[in-house]
Amino acid sequence: MIKEEIEIDFNTLKIFSLTSQDIKNIKKENIKRYNDLEIQIKKLGDESAKWQKLRYAITTLDIIEENPEQKLYIICGQNNDLIGYIKIGKKKLYLYDKDGVCHELVLQTILDFLITTIYQKKGIGHHLFEYVLKKENLKETNIAYDRPSDRLINFLKKHYNFTKDIPQYNNFMIFENFNF
Ligand SMILES: CC(C)(COP(=O)(O)OP(=O)(O)OC[C@H]1O[C@@H](n2cnc3c(N)ncnc32)[C@H](O)[C@@H]1OP(=O)(O)O)[C@@H](O)C(=O)NCCC(=O)NCCS
Repeated sequence: MIKEEIEIDFNTLKIFSLTSQDIKNIKKENIKRYNDLEIQIKKLGDESAKWQKLRYAITTLDIIEENPEQKLYIICGQNNDLIGYIKIGKKKLYLYDKDGVCHELVLQTILDFLITTIYQKKGIGHHLFEYVLKKENLKETNIAYDRPSDRLINFLKKHYNFTKDIPQYNNFMIFENFNF
């Protein structure tokens, strides 16, 4: 079988954000759009769960609607087909610094991140991640990453010079140079 090469025209990619309130509005104003979106997000959510060996999808429209502190950034291709997403959410966490001092912080976290398989390793994840950092006024070193996969770690090494984390007593990962 010959692997199909997909050319990416970054100018045609569109990024949208979805909050709990946005989903409520779409549901009220355009049920067809809501249903289409629900199907597409479910497909990606299931794919993400598979990649991460989770028993259930952690990203669905219902979950975003029920969690006002979460926000989903979705990236679409030319025909408005969904290529991937990043889910962020504010959380109160207890994080340890390099000296072992515990800090109680409310900070933005990366909760889920997926680029659908055939579009991976083409720079789309980086494009989306950069967009989210800019929109949310964040730096890669002042966020926490929920259960990062080896692929995400490689991604952070490649694009953000990640070398080492500070071990934590929860599922979150922070850069060694996290800004406490
Ligand atoms: C992690 C992910 C979101 C990155 O998106 P992407 O569009 O592939 O990333 P980019 O093209 O911008 O960057 C590519 C780099 O990411 C890392 N990467 C991406 N896919 C990888 C894979 N399957 N295995 C190992 N590293 C991978 C590599 O460092 C890669 O660089 P390389 O091509 O030189 O090896 C995407 O690969 C993905 O959805 N993976 C499956 C789900 C997942 O693990 N999500 C993280 C949840 S914690």
